[in-house]
Amino acid sequence: MYRTHNCGELRLSDINKEVTLAGWVTISRELGGLTFVDLRDRYGITQLVFDMDDNAALCQQARSLGREFVIQATGTVRERASKNPNRETGDVEIRVTALKILNAAKTPPFTIQDDTDGGDDLRMKYRYLDLRRNAVQKNLLFRSNLAIETRKYLASLGFIEIETPNLIKSTPEGARDFVVPSRMNKGQFYALPQSPQTFKQILMVAGFDKYFQIVKCFRDEDLRADRQPEFTQIDCEMSFIHQEDILNTFEGLTKYLFKTTLNIELGDFPRMTYDEAMRRYGSDKPDLRFSMEFVELTDAAKGKGFQVFDSAESVIAICAPGCAEYSRKQIDELTEWVKRPQIGAKGLVYVKYEADGSVKSSVDKFYSPDDLKGWLSACGAKPGDMIFLLCGEDEKTRKQLSELRLEMGNRLGLRKPGDFKPLWVVDFPLLEWDEDEGRFFAMHHPFTSPKPDDIVKMESNDRAVLKGIRADAYDLVLNGVEIGGGSIRIHDRDLQSRNFRLLGFTPEEAEAQFGFLLGAFEYGAPPHGGIAFGFDRLNAVMNGANSIRDFIAFPKNNQGRDMMIDAPDTIKLKQLEELGIRVVSE
Ligand code: AMO
Repeated sequence: MYRTHNCGELRLSDINKEVTLAGWVTISRELGGLTFVDLRDRYGITQLVFDMDDNAALCQQARSLGREFVIQATGTVRERASKNPNRETGDVEIRVTALKILNAAKTPPFTIQDDTDGGDDLRMKYRYLDLRRNAVQKNLLFRSNLAIETRKYLASLGFIEIETPNLIKSTPEGARDFVVPSRMNKGQFYALPQSPQTFKQILMVAGFDKYFQIVKCFRDEDLRADRQPEFTQIDCEMSFIHQEDILNTFEGLTKYLFKTTLNIELGDFPRMTYDEAMRRYGSDKPDLRFSMEFVELTDAAKGKGFQVFDSAESVIAICAPGCAEYSRKQIDELTEWVKRPQIGAKGLVYVKYEADGSVKSSVDKFYSPDDLKGWLSACGAKPGDMIFLLCGEDEKTRKQLSELRLEMGNRLGLRKPGDFKPLWVVDFPLLEWDEDEGRFFAMHHPFTSPKPDDIVKMESNDRAVLKGIRADAYDLVLNGVEIGGGSIRIHDRDLQSRNFRLLGFTPEEAEAQFGFLLGAFEYGAPPHGGIAFGFDRLNAVMNGANSIRDFIAFPKNNQGRDMMIDAPDTIKLKQLEELGIRVVSE
């Protein structure tokens, strides 16, 4: 037997037991005639002690141990003279009588501890060492539990887990596809699925009724902290349901997961239409952990000779509580922040409501103190607060102010980890106009059903009318992160064809790309709908983490590279030839 116990389980009740442990040397230190070694495995750390007076040779051997050596130690459990209350095994230590080095180790390039000295790139290159760190192991354990609980909950409701293929046909679903050349069908390519969307709909046509899958999806898009090229979804689809059934089922799942993994009871989730979310927060995924709602000042701000506001479509404000004390320097810095290309505002106007009740503003040349007080009062500002105004084209201004709102939320510590504010955003628009391409795209995806009352609008040629078509589409938002999205689907072939037409597909293109689905719709497709949760995101948000990478065993960096295996990489000419791919040099 390699070990009688693991490194996390020995307690005072085990005193005097003869035990054998195995694990990695975290650290060793010498104190007079004693040598202490911290032995680590995934369950914890136990202190080993070697006494020169007991056994000099053994003690010498212990002194030769380097960090991350793999060892096996046998000895007796005894009470520690100086206990470590921060460690579950901190009351005991093992007085070692036999030591075996199972494997030596090179000195690791960074320390294997919670606050490691390793930078991102180094940790990713040596991910197997990074994965030894307690913090990362804890995250992966959480992820494993979350998947197990998800399966338990959905299975208890009668959902069936069905695997769908990874080598499929390239279909446009927002992002670019990763493609895989086919050796047996030269010149042809599979695509990796961006999601199992069409397959799960086909499963509904097949009568499976309640499907789910914890599934890898692949999207070739620009990467950010909450986006990976391959990521995992909890993907679901149901038949003979209304939107309400889906929202209730997945609100239930979310509550269950919070209860079982974090012991947190979430109340009922509020709902907000897309239009309302954009009006109040300038975002379809507002962080509701703090208020700072948008206040329209367009009418109040116009007509006083301030050209910038006079020519703007919208002037909108937020109130930052307690910020009247901001210095000139702080305001200048914030102004530079909103002017960065990522935000793109032209400038920032402020009004301070001083503690003594007076007002001070960057635009007091144009507005009387009463005008400015009117704005402050519209924003619900109190003495000591400051309001910020942005202006310009309505949609852009809302986006920019939404970024500023989140930034102020961060700066003021209002986005508290451990505070969870879920929200259903419903009634998304069906279509989104793309200025560059000069055409509509599906806001969710092309299979999303318009709201029944809005179907007539699909015949219109007026862009404004088409933009106003609402869909039975919904997102689950948690603390400002889009955790999941879904919709009721079109299950009628004619309506699906009409939708493809609106999206600029010719009937031939629609047939070539989605003929299988349109065909299936002719053989009795039930009314159906579904949703997919971003599983990596759910893990990160539940743990108050900013990056989903912390919850993925082998993530890719922002250039889409796996630093450990060094992928992507070139392939041999012979492989290319087999695939029928000719390399054309430039
Ligand atoms: P959608 O495209 O909204 O819907 O994706 C569902 C959820 O997946 C997560 N997600 C991502 N997570 C990490 N990295 C990415 N690159 C990434 N892209 C998306 C998000 C998102 O809310 N087939 C539809 C679902 C449906 O209609 O049933 C779909 O994939 O959390």
